[in-house]
Amino acid sequence: MASYIINGPAKNFGGSVRISGSKNSALPIMSAAMLCPEKNVLYNLPRLSDTEAMAEIMASLGCGIERREDGAVEISADIKKPRRKCGYALFSRLRASVLIMAPLLARFGKAKIPMPGGCKIGARPIDLHLKGFSAMGAKIRQGHGFVDASAPGGLVGCRIYLDFPSVGATENLMTAACLAEGSTTILNAANEPEICDLADFLIGMGAKITGAGGDTITVEGVEELHGCSHKIIPDRIEAGTFLIFAAGLGAALKVEKTEPRHLKPLIAKLGEMGLDCEAGADFIELHPSGRPKAVDIKTMPYPGFPTDLQAQAMALLATGEGSGMVVETIFENRFTHIPELCRMGAGIKTEGNAAFINGVRHLSGAEVRATDLRAGAALVAAALKAGGKSVIHNIEHIERGYESFTEKLRSLGADIERVEDNV
Ligand code: EPZ
Repeated sequence: MASYIINGPAKNFGGSVRISGSKNSALPIMSAAMLCPEKNVLYNLPRLSDTEAMAEIMASLGCGIERREDGAVEISADIKKPRRKCGYALFSRLRASVLIMAPLLARFGKAKIPMPGGCKIGARPIDLHLKGFSAMGAKIRQGHGFVDASAPGGLVGCRIYLDFPSVGATENLMTAACLAEGSTTILNAANEPEICDLADFLIGMGAKITGAGGDTITVEGVEELHGCSHKIIPDRIEAGTFLIFAAGLGAALKVEKTEPRHLKPLIAKLGEMGLDCEAGADFIELHPSGRPKAVDIKTMPYPGFPTDLQAQAMALLATGEGSGMVVETIFENRFTHIPELCRMGAGIKTEGNAAFINGVRHLSGAEVRATDLRAGAALVAAALKAGGKSVIHNIEHIERGYESFTEKLRSLGADIERVEDNV
């Protein structure tokens, strides 16, 4: 286990930071690359423990994956018959491993994977994924901690209504539908930018997809797909996280190689807080600002305020001027960062899925524990502006989703050190 030691407040924080490729785009695209035996080349794929875990899962199924000198990742899924059963130990490391079902089922007619466990932020069932695969003709059996889907005769296109615009279910079903017989329509589909990026990649492989980015996606199945090359979109959550780090310090920051239109909700909220944010073609610049004013935030599916920035935004409001409210509508248990923030002096109370934040002038450094990826990022936001030393334990959570995290923070003037916990 490892920890970050951060000495705050980071008085000289600021400058510019290049945003990496999107974790939540890279993972479904890596999995979808197994739809064809030909080589796919992915650019701007972030080096994260989550992408490494996905690569290990794919390699365990017989895929060839290697990162070239120039940083591009080549994936060759020239598999005749993947291993029949995927190991629990490997698959349970990654929630997104459920996305492997699409290529296994669509191309090989069989997907037997460990049921992905829940995690700190909620139960995270996969009923909508399985409802869709079943509607496409797959036989679904569950038992002994595994889900076993089979469609020996291939999948058949159909109309699928998602009871909730689930990102993962939309990705899994859109991917599988590419090789199904006939047309598939996904109603109430998620429209996050990562869905569009996956659709662009699939279309590059020869898939026939229309409507991605809206709430109705139509896929005309094709016989086979071919290899292609694709550049992963920038990580909007990483960009938003760094903007929130700077906003909490009143610092100037330019996040480069990003896509401002993916961050409209955050830019709007930073504006409501009285902070001066300017969006360019591929950058967002935060100008030095005073103490943020308290606002209310409600997480919603895209294009609403992203749940993946909820914890970080709460850390920002913790030292805001006035009282704000944050309502989390996507996950049922995504407030695990609150007790840790309160250890640093934040004034936050909760009632169900609502948190009430009374802004304080200062936080104080403390020993805290990251409970999940974005909760960990929220603790970093707090530690950067807190007075004194903070130690954040279990930072493996954070390293799942932020590439070169300590290097980027140090380059911006943060006093941060990564240490192995002596057990
Ligand atoms: C993706 O998770 C992201 N992960 C999450 O990011 C993100 O928070 C989430 O979408 C929402 O935007 C990746 O893309 C790898 P969902 P996913 O299916 O697909 C319920 C991060 O920090 N649901 O849209 O798992 C579910 O329980 C991570 O980078 C069902 O009930 O999210 C949740 O309450 C965290 N049944 C809600 O829908 C299902 O079959 C949203 O889940 C599927 C989902």
